[in-house]
Amino acid sequence: MSTQPRTEDPVTRRRTFAIISHPDAGKTTLTEKLLLFGGAIQLAGEVRAKANRRQTRSDWMGIERERGISVVTSVMTFEHAGCVFNLLDTPGHEDFSEDTYRTLSAVDSAVMVIDAARGIESRTRKLFEVCRLRDIPIVTFVNKMDRETRDPFDLLDEIEKVLALDTAPVTWPIGRGRAFAGTYDLAHSMIRKLDSDVEAPMLPVDGPRDPAIRALLPSHEADAAIDELELAREACKPFDRDAFLEGHLTPVFFGSALRTFGVADLINALADFAPPPRGLQAESRFVDAREAKMTGFVFKIQANMDPNHRDRIAFMRVSSGKLTRGMKAKLVRTGKPMALNAPQFFFAQERALAEQAFAGDVVGIPNHGTLRIGDTLTEGEDLVFRGVPSFAPEILRRVKLNDAMKAKKLKEALQQMAEEGVVQTFVPYDGAGAIVGVVGALQLDVLVERLQVEYGLPVTFESSRFEIARWVTAEPLELRKFLDAYPSSTAEDLDGAPVFLASSAFTLRYEQERWPQVTFSDIKDYQRAAV
Ligand code: G4P
Repeated sequence: MSTQPRTEDPVTRRRTFAIISHPDAGKTTLTEKLLLFGGAIQLAGEVRAKANRRQTRSDWMGIERERGISVVTSVMTFEHAGCVFNLLDTPGHEDFSEDTYRTLSAVDSAVMVIDAARGIESRTRKLFEVCRLRDIPIVTFVNKMDRETRDPFDLLDEIEKVLALDTAPVTWPIGRGRAFAGTYDLAHSMIRKLDSDVEAPMLPVDGPRDPAIRALLPSHEADAAIDELELAREACKPFDRDAFLEGHLTPVFFGSALRTFGVADLINALADFAPPPRGLQAESRFVDAREAKMTGFVFKIQANMDPNHRDRIAFMRVSSGKLTRGMKAKLVRTGKPMALNAPQFFFAQERALAEQAFAGDVVGIPNHGTLRIGDTLTEGEDLVFRGVPSFAPEILRRVKLNDAMKAKKLKEALQQMAEEGVVQTFVPYDGAGAIVGVVGALQLDVLVERLQVEYGLPVTFESSRFEIARWVTAEPLELRKFLDAYPSSTAEDLDGAPVFLASSAFTLRYEQERWPQVTFSDIKDYQRAAV
């Protein structure tokens, strides 16, 4: 089934991907099983166990503990079938979708996990749309086939209609629910039987009517299941790699993460079909992954991963070239050099110093606030990568400090939180106090807890008179005119970009009509240096 030659070339061998799904579809379970295949963990359950350990060690993560959710994005590296996989984990909770979107800017492909009983759910759809915006190829894993499921044709139909994405089932379930007995490889006429707890090898069969398939099914269901296999083989589109790479078609696998079934098919598909690291558009030019010089961009900042060190880790995707430990890079936003003395790789159970990293790899760079989300590092060239978006917040609040003497400290703390992407801050041009913006309410809870624990700042929130924030752009003169006309409802964000704050959707529409030369945007796609 292999379509890509195995190679020693570090770029060709790399697969950097994320899993997108609706909560509860089985992402965590599948992650564990993928890591198990890659030998990155010994026992399934480690991902969860690790998360729990981390929670008990880190104070601000008390929120996660209380609510039983994970708000941490991380990266896990493992090897399998001659490939190096970088799995970028995305937080499950909806409130952290910004983090998720940023993470998706750093992957080359994604696995879409669907609960076989539920089909396409809201969050899957949203995440899929982000992947589509970035032409990220998607491999689909229909999970929980060991439970009662919907008709597989129905599920494929739903993917095609709701996501406008062609489907090419690679495997097809033999029986479903309690009668789920394995899968049939449609193109190669092979079966894989559902075994107790190991993934069984593939066995050749002579088409869907082979007695070996009938023998797997309860007699009263056998005829219907075999007819269904025949139909699937005749009616379904064959896999077309070009259409997949262009994001028009998804290969579909059926399985059960819980029973470790279908996981081998999935990981082999990633090795065989998924694209190696791709080039990336910078403001000035396209950067090919195979260029000799190192370039990379920061898509996530995570603080306090190790509470003993109060560290801040910037997660950088290497976009081209080779990163070598100790090298001097240029931080393009400031123009200053930065020594990469301790870049790190992350595995399921540990981190290790990264002596070298290649395009597609994600390294953690410890720093004390030098790096921000969206930053580009190069070997000297003035490049700025696009593609780490900011989203307009859905909730705007004023921060109320109980001790007015600490206003300066609060300003610094908010700036740091904004640099990490925990919240966005908007400082009105008329000098009024900063407004914080978040996409989801849970981010506010994280902010309160972190301000208290890390900075000793007890704060509460007051509602702001604004409900909506939009980045505004226009010709310089027109923009100046607009900002001067509304000093108390315009502000600047962390990067100095101008923002219009509206008290209602009505006000926003009204101003949009009055100022046709001004563009009001709810996404800021990349960050420029402060002006
Ligand atoms: P998530 O990260 O996408 O939110 O999902 P997670 O893996 O945590 O799975 C959600 C629930 O679905 C878990 O059950 C998990 O065991 C179950 N599950 C995952 N994959 C399969 C599968 O292939 N078949 C079946 N039958 N169940 C599956 P839970 O009871 O909520 O949690 P737990 O107590 O089992 O950990």
